[in-house]
Amino acid sequence: MRLNMVNMTVIPNAPFAVYVHWPFCLSKCPYCDFNSHVRHGGIDEARFVRAYEREIAATAARIGKRTVSSIFFGGGTPSLMQPSSVRAILDAIDKHWRIVADAEISLEANPTSVEASRFRGYRAAGINRVSLGVQSLDDTALKELGRLHTAQEALDAVAVARSIFERYSFDLIYARPRQTLDTWTAELKRAIAEAAEHLSLYQLTIEPDTPFFGLHAAGKLAVPDEDLARDLYDLTQFICTDAGLPAYEISNHARPGAECRHNLIYWRGHEYAGIGPGAHGRLNIGARRYATETERRPESWLIRVEATGSGSTVDEMLTPGECADEYLLMGLRLAEGIEPARYVALCGREIDPQRVAVLHEEGAVETTADGRLRVTQSGFPLLDAVVADLAA
Ligand SMILES: C[S@@+](CC[C@H](N)C(=O)[O-])C[C@H]1O[C@@H](n2cnc3c(N)ncnc32)[C@H](O)[C@@H]1O
Ligand code: SF4
Repeated sequence: MRLNMVNMTVIPNAPFAVYVHWPFCLSKCPYCDFNSHVRHGGIDEARFVRAYEREIAATAARIGKRTVSSIFFGGGTPSLMQPSSVRAILDAIDKHWRIVADAEISLEANPTSVEASRFRGYRAAGINRVSLGVQSLDDTALKELGRLHTAQEALDAVAVARSIFERYSFDLIYARPRQTLDTWTAELKRAIAEAAEHLSLYQLTIEPDTPFFGLHAAGKLAVPDEDLARDLYDLTQFICTDAGLPAYEISNHARPGAECRHNLIYWRGHEYAGIGPGAHGRLNIGARRYATETERRPESWLIRVEATGSGSTVDEMLTPGECADEYLLMGLRLAEGIEPARYVALCGREIDPQRVAVLHEEGAVETTADGRLRVTQSGFPLLDAVVADLAA
């Protein structure tokens, strides 16, 4: 059935976020395929910061006034930045848009003691939430993951974060080599005892073009098989829910009300600007939505921004169907699911009712009392297949 399309790209009073990508790390972890680079000779940080300021100005000139409700410094390792650089970037965002008084301003930090020593400076610069990459509380696993910190150092960094920021979260990677249900139970319970309101728990993914991929292909890195990975996922849900930290997204757990507001903006299909090398954005200009990407290589991005004001390499107007599929893809990751009416408003047709009915029968999706469509607890491990089934 074709329905009349209303423009729902622009939702009145929708939140607007800014993502700032800092692409440098002290070393490259063998599992990681993020846009992160090691520069043993150091970098000209002040020059990079000027380029971030220019790219913010150019993006603001393009989209006009916005009120910023969340900012996220991600990486790479933004905790390698000087606090004064963080402040300069925040000042530029506030100058060209406007940061609301209660904005969530997060920074991703690696939990080494050197980086934790900068936390007070970040707080003074305006950061009010940190997300720490703890990854594991087991020293052997940390070594295997190529991390530069021990479990004790990570716990010390968590304690520093707790004493400085009103909000903090940390990441763990599970479904690691040799991990059992018992060892993960002990590790997760220990982590929950250290957590405040939010935890990100990612299953180890073997990403192409990483050293782990080569090792795995050569049979030198065994990860849990599908059944054990599924059991580890179910166990994670059980332990976290029991501890008052249910999943609000497939890998993210929070006390109700303490969800990461920034990530919710992505998953709920709202607008965000991406600043820095390799940053992605979704911008609403007039009635249209644009997908943006910038040059990934830091030095090439820098030269491009210095020459043109922007590091843009992709700037594509999305079709209504693409907007709707993205809404499905992102929104179904959330425990709250999606509003079918918004899907209709985006692309002018319903999600195929027959496919929805089959997934309902299989127990992979459900419709809530207020009409939202969401993936069930048992459907979540099959999320990719569910989305592929529903997308146009
Ligand atoms: C941008 S990364 C890291 C931030 C920070 N540089 C760090 O390492 O602590 C964000 C998170 O993604 C997760 N991650 C990265 N690669 C992963 C992979 N291959 N499998 C599972 N989780 C991964 C890690 O938990 C990491 O903390
Ligand atoms: S996991 Fe973090 S520290 Fe390691 S390479 Fe990726 S971004 Fe850098």
